[in-house]
Amino acid sequence: MHKDLEKILITEEEIHEAAKRLAAQIEKDYADEEDIVLVGLLKGSVQFMADLLKHINKMCKIDFMCVSSYGKGTKSTGRVNIIKDLSEPIDDKNVIIVEDIIDSGNTLNFIGKYFAAKNAKSVRICTLLNKPSRREVEIDVDYIGFDVPDAFVVGYGLDYQEYYRNLPYIGVLKPEIYS
Ligand code: IMP
Ligand code: MG
Repeated sequence: MHKDLEKILITEEEIHEAAKRLAAQIEKDYADEEDIVLVGLLKGSVQFMADLLKHINKMCKIDFMCVSSYGKGTKSTGRVNIIKDLSEPIDDKNVIIVEDIIDSGNTLNFIGKYFAAKNAKSVRICTLLNKPSRREVEIDVDYIGFDVPDAFVVGYGLDYQEYYRNLPYIGVLKPEIYS
């Protein structure tokens, strides 16, 4: 696995620090709120969700959704399919979407509208990584771990063809692996 990477972009320690920082910010912002649900987008958010969750010292629930927009390549198709829906209703809930990376913005654009239609009280976005240079639709991102350059990254939940999710850091995949 490790040999397929060009370089390590973000270490495990840096990710842990970011998760603590974002959890503290969330705790502060939602100090007067109840009915908080963290909705992780499968499968990329699993590692980050676990880190974030344990540093939020407040009553909250978690749920997961699985959507796909990518197929097997490295470019978004713009189409979003729901593969697994929420397991509980979110009406009047304060939803925080937990995502691995925001790239074109198509996935979150779709999910934001979907949750609003389900009458969530509020919807905010918390992402480990953000690739602003690749945005196709404008998205308000409330909590960002790291901005990353326009390179295909894997690890810490992020995959290429379903592999590399188990790497304990974020790295840049060698282009020869996917070209
Ligand atoms: P978007 O809809 O283009 O914003 O894409 C979001 C999804 O694409 C993310 O949840 C990832 O699953 C995937 N993705 C985007 N960029 C990368 C990357 O650099 N590495 C791995 N997955 C990525
Ligand atoms: Mg994803």
